[in-house]
Amino acid sequence: MQAEEMRGSAPALTASVPDEARARFLSDVLAGLHRSPKRLPSKYFYDHRGSWLFDRICELPEYYPTRTELSILRTRGREIARSIGPACQLIELGAGSTLKIRLLLETLDRPHSYVPVDISGEYLRKQNRALDAECPELRVIPVAADFMRDFTLPARDDGRGRRVVFFPGSTIGNLTREEAIGLLRRIARLITPDGGLLIGIDLVKSPAVLEAAYNDCQGVTAAFNLNVLRRVRDELGAELDLAAFAHHAYYRHSRRRIEMHLVSRRTQQIVLDGERFQLMAGETIHTENSHKYELETFAQFTAEAGLRARQTWTDARHWFAVQYLECD
Ligand code: AVJ
Repeated sequence: MQAEEMRGSAPALTASVPDEARARFLSDVLAGLHRSPKRLPSKYFYDHRGSWLFDRICELPEYYPTRTELSILRTRGREIARSIGPACQLIELGAGSTLKIRLLLETLDRPHSYVPVDISGEYLRKQNRALDAECPELRVIPVAADFMRDFTLPARDDGRGRRVVFFPGSTIGNLTREEAIGLLRRIARLITPDGGLLIGIDLVKSPAVLEAAYNDCQGVTAAFNLNVLRRVRDELGAELDLAAFAHHAYYRHSRRRIEMHLVSRRTQQIVLDGERFQLMAGETIHTENSHKYELETFAQFTAEAGLRARQTWTDARHWFAVQYLECD
């Protein structure tokens, strides 16, 4: 997304046409399979089924981030609302379920409108239809878009109004340092001069807790991980044997991140778009990084993007943090 477009005032909302989205998906997958080690971008987990599976992950006993963030939003809601101030246009990046925004809306002072942005358009519309009906005084304007690319925001019909970006769930942790700083810079341009960013970040903690959160007993995370390959098979027509891949997630301490992989159980090949990709037994396709932060490290990212933390809220165990930032 370019600054101008993100700032934009054009009323039309850009949702990429299905053909374009499919072509991009195909070229991203081909590029990832040509790399060594092989990779697939984690954003492709989230079709309708993947978004649904992710919401099931959020309910798992092992997956502490959602529950912890919700408890912070619930207990510190009034302070958060005071930081954000009145009449903002609230833009949520990676808006899956409406659970978190519902909590915020309980305490916010007459928000002007709510703009949920998500790559999974069908799921997004379904989730927000009910919210729209329940809150007649709030304009709910869903935008189906990949927030890492260009997209157009709806015009604010009063011509002004502060923009506040809500980026919960530690979704930023899926990005590399460079990507994260790049996105924070674009957010800073979007909210300048008087808006803000409310962001959720997952903190460094014991590897046992981290690894359990990505290796649940019920195998929901495994199904979520495999969902990207299922999409490659079903949407891109690849020849591949889903059953010959296993979920693997572990904490890589040196990089402060959980890595998710799909491990080939045997020698096999994936045939896609006329190309053949060989996999050895035990070879992995890297599907996701989920970075965990120290608050000091995260402060360096935000400083590079010209943002400064006004307030930080954490839970008693310091497992998760919610931060409100403004432009420097
Ligand atoms: C939504 C990206 C924050 O990294 O914890 C959950 C996705 N992956 N279980 C995360 C996820 C595996 C989640 N984020």
